[in-house]
Amino acid sequence: MIDETTGALPVEGVSAARVLDEIRALRAADRPTHGGRLFAYVYDPGVAGLDELAQAAYAESAHVNGLDPTAFPSLLAMENALVGAAARLLGGGPGTSAPDVVGSVTSGGTESLILAVKAARDARPDLADPRIVVPVSGHAAFAKAAHYLRVALDPVPVDPVTLRPAVADVAAAIRPETVLVVASAPSYAHGVIDPVAEIAAVAAAAGVRCHVDACFGGWTLPWLRRLGVPVPPFDFAVPGVTSISVDLHKYAYAPKGVSVLLHRDPGLRAPQFFAYGDWPGYTMVNPVIASTRSGGPIAAAYATLRHLGEDGYLRLAAVTRDAVAGLADAVRAVDGLRLLAEPESTVVCFTADDPGLDLFVLVDELTARGWHTQPQLAYAGLPASVHLTVTAAVAPRVAEFGPALAEAAAAARAAGLVVLPPELLALAGSLTPEALTPDLVAGLAAGLGLGAGPAPDRMAAVNTLLQAAPVRLRERLLVEFVGLLQRPAW
Ligand SMILES: Cc1ncc(COP(=O)(O)O)c(C=O)c1O
Repeated sequence: MIDETTGALPVEGVSAARVLDEIRALRAADRPTHGGRLFAYVYDPGVAGLDELAQAAYAESAHVNGLDPTAFPSLLAMENALVGAAARLLGGGPGTSAPDVVGSVTSGGTESLILAVKAARDARPDLADPRIVVPVSGHAAFAKAAHYLRVALDPVPVDPVTLRPAVADVAAAIRPETVLVVASAPSYAHGVIDPVAEIAAVAAAAGVRCHVDACFGGWTLPWLRRLGVPVPPFDFAVPGVTSISVDLHKYAYAPKGVSVLLHRDPGLRAPQFFAYGDWPGYTMVNPVIASTRSGGPIAAAYATLRHLGEDGYLRLAAVTRDAVAGLADAVRAVDGLRLLAEPESTVVCFTADDPGLDLFVLVDELTARGWHTQPQLAYAGLPASVHLTVTAAVAPRVAEFGPALAEAAAAARAAGLVVLPPELLALAGSLTPEALTPDLVAGLAAGLGLGAGPAPDRMAAVNTLLQAAPVRLRERLLVEFVGLLQRPAW
């Protein structure tokens, strides 16, 4: 039975005004995308009028299809302009050491990384069991790419202090079957820039491609460098870097759905493409994973870049740099908190050294005060931490964050540590992923207050349980849980 008040397909259509009201009512439960109090998922420059411009540009091209660039040359022109801008920003193009750089516009960082791995894999059809070398601080999308493409993943540990891989470990991980070596500029979790020049050198020496994942930082590091921040070489100026990804829906402040994957030359890009003529329909050629693609995100990104311009991005980077410094000072000022890494880009990441201060409770206390941060579980000798993605819109909030953090830390100390029932902890430690049944997961989720709709305000118990669970069980729990959430609404 369709619910006539909320079902997506009512018997009789409802008015445009009502539908928009309904969507706005649904959106009220979401985290705030603007206003500088959400430190993950969204990238907000706080520039008046930019949203309206991007929305208008999106609407102009929403129905244009990227499937066929000859049918819709407007889209091709805008894509080529985006690729050119990204390449120029990242050390490629005329007059540089990477004059032949080419690229593609994808739907996001994950698609760019999957395609970087595909291009590297398909360039070596002689290898039955291709492998990629990825520092453990590399984005999880590399593991996804490896999984989707049946490529083996060789993880390289990171130093617990510098949070970077040792170059010798990267070199040692390269085998005859290695098709790609990865470096991050910077890593998402800690905002740390890998030793790209050294990693690219060992990859080149082995005759292997090197991808720099600059999805997160590729659109900020160049401006920070221009502002005098010491940014180590990470782009096409580095010999041996064969491809770079940069997400425009992150620090280029474009609406979601746009990333650029660049290759040093067309030969390196060629195996990324897919063409198929062995069916009775149109001959298909796709540079990226999707076939039909909306022009909306591309036009919106194009409008955003042109409107902000170099001077706009430089100004936003300066504002962001100052906000990062202010947030880092706020962390330093709270006893028991410690920066996991000195900020070198646009991330502030901290941990708790005080055994009486539960970091997951602190995150909940911040949420209760309207600050939405991202908890990161302890991993391979690294402590649990809190991640803050800092964007320009945070700047006007920095002065309020310090007192809120101090207050939240005091409240967390007063609340004490999360103590899970011993039988639950024992279960988390002993359960195998295979033993998980839907009923067990449903019972667990209900017990922890997790159901459809927004997550509960207090997530410390959930995070503590996930942290107690071995990684494979943790993954399986999350899969089962999201499976519970993704149910058709009738
Ligand atoms: C370094 C890095 N690479 C890749 C990704 C994946 O990007 P997306 O979420 O757009 O697929 C992210 C996302 O945060 C990232 O920070």
